[in-house]
Amino acid sequence: MSLLKLFSFHLIFTVSVFTPAESANEYFTTRWLRCIYSSPDLSDMVFIDSYYFNKYLLTQFNSTLGRFVGFSEYGMRNAEFWNNDTSSLQVEIAGVDTFCKPNAQNYDLQIRDKAVKPKVKLSSVMRAGGRHPAVLMCSAYEFYPPHIKVSWLRDGKLMTSEVTSTMEMADGDWYYQIHSELEYTPKSREKISCMVEHASLSKPMIYDWDPSLPESERNKIAIGASGLVLGIILAAAGLIYYKKKSAGRILVPN
Ligand SMILES: *[C@@H]1O[C@H](CO)[C@@H](O)[C@H](O)[C@H]1NC(C)=O
Ligand SMILES: *[C@@H]1O[C@H](CO)[C@@H](O)[C@H](O)[C@H]1NC(C)=O
Repeated sequence: MSLLKLFSFHLIFTVSVFTPAESANEYFTTRWLRCIYSSPDLSDMVFIDSYYFNKYLLTQFNSTLGRFVGFSEYGMRNAEFWNNDTSSLQVEIAGVDTFCKPNAQNYDLQIRDKAVKPKVKLSSVMRAGGRHPAVLMCSAYEFYPPHIKVSWLRDGKLMTSEVTSTMEMADGDWYYQIHSELEYTPKSREKISCMVEHASLSKPMIYDWDPSLPESERNKIAIGASGLVLGIILAAAGLIYYKKKSAGRILVPN
């Protein structure tokens, strides 16, 4: 009997007990198969097969225990019944080798050695009410896998205080992003750097903060300045026009 057959066997068994109501308040029986491992050779693979009614865990097979365990009166009856069926239990125990490992091998082939380098951006953050006069943000974008380390260096030495960091955030397309903030008091002639360590990099990458204004800031200032000049010219022209007009009106004899 394959695991798939076992699946239908169990599913039919469960569904026949809980018939979904045909109303807005439907009931859900779900089965959740999990293969948990962290070792690259899959030697620590654990197979967890859980049966739920709505959010309630009823019965669970755990390959470490090698049997089903019940979590409610009904779930315990199920566990007892399924544990008693030696051939079904053998299929479930074999799940580690027949279901988990082949699938994990397949998935691993797709993702292992496919690390993607983060795109790193350093920027200064405007923040009202911060105790320190400067806040820098180091953002890493579009990297894979999610595990990453972002740290801050002052003249090459690790900074620990006033560092806040987000979790790795999934972009939803297998890529991840992370943001780390540093609040600090700038000193003259110091070098602040952001260090990024990731599986895609053979050595830690160090990005130095350049306190001179970044391109976008310069552009903003240029646009603002031209706007100001244009405004002054228009205002002056308006004033001259107004003066001339009002002066002319006085000259007109009544
Ligand atoms: C499976 O059983 C082992 C041994 O009792 C336990 O350490 C582990 O947490 C269990 N796994 C789950 C997901 O319940
Ligand atoms: C377990 O199996 C034995 C022998 O097949 C049977 O007599 C017994 O009733 C079973 N128990 C349950 C709970 O199904």
